[in-house]
Amino acid sequence: MKEAKTFFMRTYGCQMNENDTEVMVGMLEKRGLKRTDDESGADLLLFNTCSIRDLAERKVMGKLGKLGKLRQNRPIIGITGCMANAKKETLFKKVPHIDFVLGTNNIHELNSVLDEVLLTGKQQARVDMRFEHELDYLQASRPDKVKAYVSIIRGCSKYCTYCVVPYTRGPEVSRTPESILEECQALADQGYKEITLLGQNVNSYGKDKPEWNTLFHDLLYKVDSIKGIERVRFMTSHPVDITLNLMQAIRDLKSLCEFVHFPIQAGSDRILHKMHRLYTKQQYLEKVQMLRELVPGVQLGTDIIVGFPTETDAEFQETYDVLEQLEYSVAFLFAYSPRKGTPAMRWMDDIPEAVKDERLQRLIALQNEIYKKQRQDMLGQVVEVLVEGVVDSETNSLKGRTRCWKNVVFQGPETLVGTLQNVRIHSFNHQTMAGDLVPKSTLQILS
Ligand code: 5AD
Ligand code: SF4
Repeated sequence: MKEAKTFFMRTYGCQMNENDTEVMVGMLEKRGLKRTDDESGADLLLFNTCSIRDLAERKVMGKLGKLGKLRQNRPIIGITGCMANAKKETLFKKVPHIDFVLGTNNIHELNSVLDEVLLTGKQQARVDMRFEHELDYLQASRPDKVKAYVSIIRGCSKYCTYCVVPYTRGPEVSRTPESILEECQALADQGYKEITLLGQNVNSYGKDKPEWNTLFHDLLYKVDSIKGIERVRFMTSHPVDITLNLMQAIRDLKSLCEFVHFPIQAGSDRILHKMHRLYTKQQYLEKVQMLRELVPGVQLGTDIIVGFPTETDAEFQETYDVLEQLEYSVAFLFAYSPRKGTPAMRWMDDIPEAVKDERLQRLIALQNEIYKKQRQDMLGQVVEVLVEGVVDSETNSLKGRTRCWKNVVFQGPETLVGTLQNVRIHSFNHQTMAGDLVPKSTLQILS
């Protein structure tokens, strides 16, 4: 096979995958390949895949199936991401026209696998179940110039019974604080203003390496001290690992945004236990209350699964009531999808799809009402927006986000991109708030 000159890469799934894509793009660019949006003309096609729910896998399989129909000038095709780990070499049987399978823990081998394929023309698979090699994150090629993802811990050791992540990404492996801080400093030097610390469960950071003496909140204090980084976010968290120390860090650190993804998953104690979530509803509510008291104005996000095996109507109602009570500002709502290899597979997926869907629709309708009320409450308020980019240069329209993730559009010059601005909200359209710039007072500009 001849060396590839161009590559096309598509990412499915979560922000961890997006960040892995950035690293792989950087590796290929360093090798001299050029990224292209032209899928049909590229020499190498890469699909960074997701296994979290059946639908995510079906999307990729549908896509790969279609590529099998290509006869002439067939590109090299590689599968990376969680599906690579979940299906390994069996992918070659299902989709015989793919050339390599590279798991989430083998990203560092991308170029050597590509060499093997080019040299031998034979299918290659590298799928380790544990992340053991330090990745050179500094080579990540990022599309955005204002905000960046920084991976701090890979894998998950919580083993929720429905979740495939501990089996695809492996157990938790923290990245050294030195390496994280070096990357954050490099991003600050390049002019980045916002960093999102990433991991399947960021707040168990450092627990696998007690000798480092650096837990998640310790790391936050270090990242906050980097000059030039205006905002620090993190995702995602497990409620059990949200500690008082972390809450105090959110209260005290200037750059740390007052938003916590606090996924409850279900409102019934029996279901929470069956999910192996390690907390009861009461314990969860107490933690939320503690956080809300300590950090006034803090906003919360959640993930919820409906239709978990054996979930009764009354148990679903408990989930509904919690969603109503807590008024999350972000809620990701899912119907249970059985995943091969997870403990929940031992129970029958006994809730009919129609019932799951009805429950899901009820939650979606409730959450939409909550969103509407929250947006209405924002009308007339002045919010701080980090300007992320231009929507339309002809109309001078800019976009950015508040500290708690709300999208805001407003008019202003392009030179404001990358700065913090105050915007008075006057209206909204779906999820996006619209407002007017509030000029900074002379005093503020001078200070
Ligand atoms: N079915 C449905 N939703 C799931 N999630 C994880 N596994 C499953 C599954 N098997 C959801 C959880 C998790 C989010 C990332 O995806 O809510 O927090
Ligand atoms: Fe999956 Fe639970 Fe780990 Fe989240 S905490 S990645 S839901 S096992």
